[in-house]
Amino acid sequence: MREFDDKSVTEAVIGRLSDCDDARFKRVMTSLITHLHDFVREVKLTEPEWITAIEFLTAAGKTCTDKRQEFILLSDTLGVSVLVITLNHPAAHDSVESTVLGPFYWEGAPDLPRGANLAVGVKGEPAFYSGRVLAVDGQPLENALLDIWSGDGEGNYDMQMPEETGMKARGRIRTDAAGRYWFRSIRPTYYPVPTDGPVGRMLRRMGRHPYRPGHIHMIVSAPGYLPVTTHLFVAGSQYLDSDAVFGMKESLVAQFERHSPGVGPDGERMETPFYTVNYDFRLRPAGTAARIEP
Ligand code: BEZ
Ligand code: FE
Repeated sequence: MREFDDKSVTEAVIGRLSDCDDARFKRVMTSLITHLHDFVREVKLTEPEWITAIEFLTAAGKTCTDKRQEFILLSDTLGVSVLVITLNHPAAHDSVESTVLGPFYWEGAPDLPRGANLAVGVKGEPAFYSGRVLAVDGQPLENALLDIWSGDGEGNYDMQMPEETGMKARGRIRTDAAGRYWFRSIRPTYYPVPTDGPVGRMLRRMGRHPYRPGHIHMIVSAPGYLPVTTHLFVAGSQYLDSDAVFGMKESLVAQFERHSPGVGPDGERMETPFYTVNYDFRLRPAGTAARIEP
């Protein structure tokens, strides 16, 4: 057939995959074409709308730099990132849940001793974090690694500062023989995802706010165990009920206990109020990933 109508065109495009010898790619593309065509038919997409979509994607591409990934932000704000994570790392009641990586991970954070202050010179209320990294059977994991990062107490990440002068509020801490970790940082606050690009315009047009609840990021790993990209969310933070990137998980909400000025857990005198937070991370052995096969 050389000519197609608004229905047969879908089969024709899929038919052109007949010589594709990558079975997985063929399956993904067949489904993508099917859903894309169904979407266009369902909303009866107009030509101006189609052009708007092309211009939007072009603008998203032009916004990307080596420090800014607008397509990931698009995926995050449309809930696709968390859907991919949830499918590939389904919640297991016995191990810590995964959530989005976000755009502010910076590889190569400094290795710091347990107890170090990750946030020297960073704005925000001091917070002392502690807990253990355990296997799901409760065995403490020695030398497990926590690669930690957060914004400051005003919601700004080091990478976003115009006069960026290197890493801030980042560090890698390892557990002791009893699986324990402890470090000092700040109590993170809620903040907006970047809104000065096409994704920000999309959110405004949708009538959506851009905020994420207060959280600190970490990738927790140990040899022989599945690494987990996760957060600790600040209990009581604004926007826990409406995370702009849908990454909030109840099991990751941690209590930040407030203390009056006095002696901190590290024995240092604290002149301002400070917080303590305790959280244990449980990891599953490698090879037990439960990827859901469609
Ligand atoms: C973040 O938590 O750092 C983040 C995640 C997704 C989009 C923007 C920021
Ligand atoms: Fe974040």
